[in-house]
Amino acid sequence: MNMNLSHPELVDLLQRAYSAEKAAAFAYQGHAGSVKGEEEKKAIRQIETDEWNHRREVLAIMNLYGIPIRKYYEFRFHVIGTIISGSCYVIGWFMPYYFAGRLESGNVCEYFRMMHYFHALGITAHDKILYEMGMKEKEHEVYFLGKIKKSKLLPFFEKIFNWGNKGSFNDVDLEKKYSLEESEKYCRKSS
Ligand SMILES: [Fe+2]
Ligand SMILES: [Fe+2]
Repeated sequence: MNMNLSHPELVDLLQRAYSAEKAAAFAYQGHAGSVKGEEEKKAIRQIETDEWNHRREVLAIMNLYGIPIRKYYEFRFHVIGTIISGSCYVIGWFMPYYFAGRLESGNVCEYFRMMHYFHALGITAHDKILYEMGMKEKEHEVYFLGKIKKSKLLPFFEKIFNWGNKGSFNDVDLEKKYSLEESEKYCRKSS
């Protein structure tokens, strides 16, 4: 099947997400390698696996519509992922958790925005997988925030980088989740 998607923003978002998932997976390899606790290593390796799964799911959607992988994004995010991965060993324990959480916070809405774009084209076939991926990114955000919640550095970083205990880049609340049917209400605020 090869139907074209006449939605440039959606095509770009899919291509970028596909490549950015690789950057995230690379980054978590370094992060898992740099943390000391066995439990943390295991948790971060699981998150890495989640990102590889996301990459596969995004590619499956792209293939359905004949959307090519963008070489430029693949290269760019390969470099970014490698740099972040290496930096985890030198920047201390706080920053890898902080910036991972901040990144995940932004990724949540990418999947709900894809859902909005698909709906604009009358396509609901991917709702479930997009919902699951968005929720998974939220779980990642919550995990990372949990690791640094009590750090004395957090208020300082939160002031500069706008993410932390008070601020998030999405309006998903895991305690009071919308159902799949309601979930298209997420991420409607422009940010
Ligand atoms: Fe992901
Ligand atoms: Fe994630």
